[in-house]
Amino acid sequence: MTTPARILVKEETLDPAYLPPRLVRREKELQLLTKRYREALAKGLAFHLLLTGGVGSGKTALARRLGTDLERTGRGNELPVRAAYINCWRRASDRTVMLDLLRAVDVSLPDRGYSLSEMMDVFEQGLRRRPQHLVVLLDEASALVKQETKLVYLLSRSHEVELGSISLLLVAAEDLLPYMDAPSRSSFGVTHRLSLAPYSREDLGEILASRAEIALRPGSFDREVLDQIARIAVPNGDARFALEILGGAAHVAEDAGSDVLLAEHIRRTKGSLMPTLSESQLESLSTNELGVLLALSRSLRSRGAAVASQKLRTAHTALLEELGGSPMSRTTFWRTLKELERDGLVTLEAAGTGESSRVAMDDLPASYLATLVEERLGRGRARKR
Ligand SMILES: Nc1ncnc2c1ncn2[C@@H]1O[C@H](COP(=O)(O)OP(=O)(O)O)[C@@H](O)[C@H]1O
Ligand SMILES: [Mg+2]
Repeated sequence: MTTPARILVKEETLDPAYLPPRLVRREKELQLLTKRYREALAKGLAFHLLLTGGVGSGKTALARRLGTDLERTGRGNELPVRAAYINCWRRASDRTVMLDLLRAVDVSLPDRGYSLSEMMDVFEQGLRRRPQHLVVLLDEASALVKQETKLVYLLSRSHEVELGSISLLLVAAEDLLPYMDAPSRSSFGVTHRLSLAPYSREDLGEILASRAEIALRPGSFDREVLDQIARIAVPNGDARFALEILGGAAHVAEDAGSDVLLAEHIRRTKGSLMPTLSESQLESLSTNELGVLLALSRSLRSRGAAVASQKLRTAHTALLEELGGSPMSRTTFWRTLKELERDGLVTLEAAGTGESSRVAMDDLPASYLATLVEERLGRGRARKR
């Protein structure tokens, strides 16, 4: 027996810590940020900006990419550019962030006994030893700013030209202006803010494609499964969740002995990461809904990520015959589908003119759903007897 070819050939590149070489669908934002900082740095001036966006909108990736790009292009300058990336999530105090900043300018202090202003002095000594333009990237800055930080103010106001400049990029999920003191707020006026829109389904599809090309074996995935993942992740526009499903599904596929990623693997992963369908929810469905759901899960089991509504209706009619039920009118069939959509159990996708729309169910393996529904229908019939 031969072992199937692996799917996840570079699993480490799906790790959140991995910085991808290209940030597709954020090119404009990266270009804008690089331009703004670079123009200021070229004049020896500081530039500050607040970057906001929801979970998985690419804030961290964008900030880190900006840091490395600025360091690289700063090389030819009179003063080098140094980017210090600090995640404030677990270091939500001025002093702990300051300790990291000291490290960034190659000085160190024991973690006790020094006041913030003493630390600032040592920090400036570090800068004096090696003059440079410092870009401080403070990720997850909410907790810090909400604790009435003085550090943000101090860093945004350090005008020591002979030491270079200190620029700030604050990164947060929410707007931080309401939590800032007035002088700090003035550094983050409207032209000093950038808000990342949630990724669209197309964006997520492109991101998944660019990351799958790096992490997975060529030929082990196709556009349809990537689009299925994009559909699942798009309600929050969350690239992190999308990549988590991609990696999880690749494992599920490998564990199942498959050498390619299939729609059923995606559903199994989604169901385990974020179960939305419970058996009690199934209990509340009408017999009509259960019938359509069963026809759908059987079709998906063999056909992939979505099925054309016409094909589903044909399958459903056949199923009703099999179960000895009376046929369902077209209108009732559609109304039932709409009810299932409203209950969040299926996704209906409009199609182009002349095509029938497509019906999908991403919550759990179709084979498992089919079994659940079969049991439920069976029990219902048993009760009636
Ligand atoms: N435009 C993009 N292209 C490629 N990968 C991306 C893109 N945006 C986000 N990612 C990836 O998605 C995941 C979440 O992004 P991240 O920057 O951590 O989001 P946030 O910090 O906004 O929560 C990371 O693994 C990141 O590498
Ligand atoms: Mg982040």
